[in-house]
This record gives sequence, structure tokens and C-alpha cells, in this order.
Amino acid sequence: MTKRLFIKTYGCQMNVYDSARMADVLAPLGYAPGDDAEGADLVILNTCHIREKASEKVYSELGRLRLMKQERPGTLIAVAGCTAQAEGAEILRRMPFVDVVVGPQAYHRLPELVARASRAGGAALDTEFPVDTKFDHLPETATPPGPAAFLTIQEGCDKFCTFCVVPYTRGAEFSRPVAEVLREAERLVAGGARELTLLGQNVNAYHGRDADGRELGLGGLVRRLARIPALGRLRYTTSHPRDVDDALIAAHGEEPKLMPYLHLPVQSGSDRILEAMNRGHDAAHFLRIVERLRQARPDLALSSDFIVGFPGESDADFAATMDLVREVGFAGAFSFKYSARPGTPAALLERQVPEAVKDARLQDLQSLLRAQTEAFNRSVLGRVVPVLVEKPGRHPGQVVGRSPWLQAVHVEAPRAAIGATIDVRLVRLGPNSIAGEVASAAGAAA
Ligand code: SAH
Ligand code: SF4
Ligand code: F3S
Repeated sequence: MTKRLFIKTYGCQMNVYDSARMADVLAPLGYAPGDDAEGADLVILNTCHIREKASEKVYSELGRLRLMKQERPGTLIAVAGCTAQAEGAEILRRMPFVDVVVGPQAYHRLPELVARASRAGGAALDTEFPVDTKFDHLPETATPPGPAAFLTIQEGCDKFCTFCVVPYTRGAEFSRPVAEVLREAERLVAGGARELTLLGQNVNAYHGRDADGRELGLGGLVRRLARIPALGRLRYTTSHPRDVDDALIAAHGEEPKLMPYLHLPVQSGSDRILEAMNRGHDAAHFLRIVERLRQARPDLALSSDFIVGFPGESDADFAATMDLVREVGFAGAFSFKYSARPGTPAALLERQVPEAVKDARLQDLQSLLRAQTEAFNRSVLGRVVPVLVEKPGRHPGQVVGRSPWLQAVHVEAPRAAIGATIDVRLVRLGPNSIAGEVASAAGAAA
């Protein structure tokens, strides 16, 4: 009998990938994914713990699910992901109607946990970091990918930035073996994917073993993947400035399938703050890396992440961040107010920055970054660029895809264009995407 599954995903792309894999491991049990919680037999919240707001959202969603469960007591509720890992049994204490709590490295055990919870009527908890990885247990058959697919190649983090929960929620860093990555990539491409985004919390710390037992870095892996003929585009995220090595820079210059858009978080432009964050590099290092990448690939556009109001951040420190932003010029960015996270070293620091100061700095930074993003988007207007068409648009007769710089582009074209790369003239900036016109229907290579 078919049972209905609803997965709600919070947080980063790695959670998006994991949610799809959870659906894969539950499919043999008869669970078919649907698009809302109402009437579902199993609801999974795949949670994020990165900032206080992110984990609060989980508890308010659980409040809503409690009401739903009162109407339909048979519904199973599972909490997965990073908040599940960080809070574990605390979730069951606060929300006793939750049936399953499973961490991000243990979800291949979901079938067993779900069976245990529905049999016993009690809750099942698994927040271990098992030796056998979730990747060893993924079923061969999986949900077909769209034209642009995610592929996790690296997990966990050993960098311990002083503000960050990820090393605790996702565990120690490890890289999937090269052969395993190639197999999954080929399967995705055979299923229709034309673009792969390689994922990891520190994806460029990748050091997987190849068939001869040698370690291959991300630059080398990109070149191997680029040999898959039907694969048109490669991207990777999130990378760390400390792990941008010569081979990776060279790959940007020499591998045309590697798209000219790079997310490279810097967090701050102040050396003092970078040091207190334990980022392991200074502002000059970041600027040098950017310069070398742009030499290798002159059309490379950059995006980044920033934190304002890290403990002890002075006006001068914040001014250094603004200077760095002006110097680099970003095509996109995410910026956040520092959020003190339980269990991280920075949460214990004195000189926490007042909320009003954080608010003012965030506003200044975001208006600068918004202006830079708009300037970048404007700079490509009038050009003809290859767009990989991903899905139908909001209006009939419209499809939506991505430019090489990850800009959303909508264009009038038949649905049959989905999955193809078409040449599009970019004509007008919209609020969330760029309007384009088909310049030629022939599939371009990029
Ligand atoms: N591994 C990536 C970042 C992963 S978390 C890296 O090292 O760059 C994504 C972003 O969330 C971070 O880049 C940072 O800007 C933000 N972030 C992480 N912890 C935070 C915290 N405690 N408060 C505010 N923002 C935070
Ligand atoms: Fe968090 Fe730092 Fe690791 Fe990124 S590198 S996941 S910010 S600890
Ligand atoms: Fe959030 Fe975990 Fe990703 S904390 S950002 S879901 S790794």
C-alpha cells in the first residue's frame, strides 16, 4: 500500500540532497513523496541549526504538527538534520509526540527507525556518527534528477570556526571515494542531469581516493567529471579560502564546463576578527586568491558570506569588511547578524555586540552588496549567453533556467526546451530574475 511522505527541508543544499536521499531510502517501504504535510503518513523535518532563528523555526513548525497529529494520531513525525543532531533527546523531551529523531549521518537507518516507532509506539532516536556511512546504503534506484542536480562529495568539517555548529552537527570531515562519486554522477547524467553542483561544507577540502589509492583534490575531480560527455556544466559549493589550491585555480582556467561563478565565503575583512573566528587566513590571502582566480578565468563572478557583529567587532573592523567588499565587487552574497550558538567558543566571548549595532551594520553591508549585485546583473544585459533550462516558468509559455553566473533567467520557449542549453539574449532585469529572448534554439556547449 502506498503511504504518503512529506519532507520539509531547511538550511543548506546539503540538506536538499539529504532530503532526496531520505525519500530514496523510504521508497522501498512504500512511501511516495507529496507536497504537503496535510494527510501525510510520515512527516520529516530536515532541520538546520546554523543560527538561532533557524532552529526556532523547527520548534514552531513542530507546534503546528502537534495539532495535525491530534486530528490524525497515526501520523509519524520525524526530526532529521542538524538540529536533530545538536539537540537529540531534548527534542523528545520538549515535543513528546515526535516519533523519530535522526542525525544527518544516520538517515540510512530511517526504515528501521520508522518501523520501530510505529511498532512500539515509542520514540526512536539515532544521532550516532556510524562508521559505515550513509553513502554505503543508498539504493541504486532513486528519484530522477532535474536538469541541474546536487551531488554531495564531502561531508562534515574539521575547521572549527569559533562561531559555527557544523563540526558538531555533521561530524568529522570525510571525502567520498572518486569511483563512488563518478558512479553517482554518471547515474545522474543518465537520468537527465546536465549540470552537477558538487556539495560539501568545505567542498574544496575534498581529497577522495582514486582506484590506485591516490588522493585526488577537487581540481582533479572536476576534470574527471568533465569527461562525462552529456554533462554540460559543473559547479561546487561551499568552498573555503584556505583550500583553494593551484590545481583548482588551474581547473577554473582550463575546464570550460566549470561555470564562471564561485561562492567563496570570507565572513569579515578584518584580520583581527578573522583570527578570532579561527578562519586560518587574513584578508590579504582572500584578495590574492580572488586575483589569481580572476587571472585564470577573467569572466569569473564571485559571491560570499558575511557575518556582522561577531564578538569584539569594532567600527574599524566593520569598516575593513566594507573596504574588502568594495575592493572585490561581488555578484551575490549572503550576510547575517552573528548569532551566538550554544556549545561554540565564540558564544562564551565577552564584548558581544549589541543588537542595534548589528542591525545598523547589516543594513549598511546589505545595501552595498545589493548595489553590487544589481550592477553585476545590469552588466550582462544585451549579451547572448547559454542558459540551461530547468523548469516551467510562472506564466504559460515561459521556462526558467540559469545563466553561467547562476542568474535565474526566464524566457518564452516551449516546455520541450527543459533540459536543453539554449542561447538567450538577456534583455531586462526583473525583481528575482532576468528576462531573456531566445537567440538560437541550437544547444550551445556551456
Ligand atoms: N562552510 C562554509 C559555511 C557554512 S555555514 C564556510 O566555511 O564558509 C553558512 C554561513 O552561515 C557561513 O558562511 C556564515 O556566514 C553563516 N554562519 C555560520 N554560523 C553563524 C553564526 N553563528 N551566526 C551567524 N551566521 C553564521
Ligand atoms: Fe563552519 Fe567554519 Fe566549518 Fe564552514 S569552515 S562549516 S564556517 S566551522
Ligand atoms: Fe544548516 Fe546543517 Fe547546513 S546547520 S547550513 S543544515 S550543515
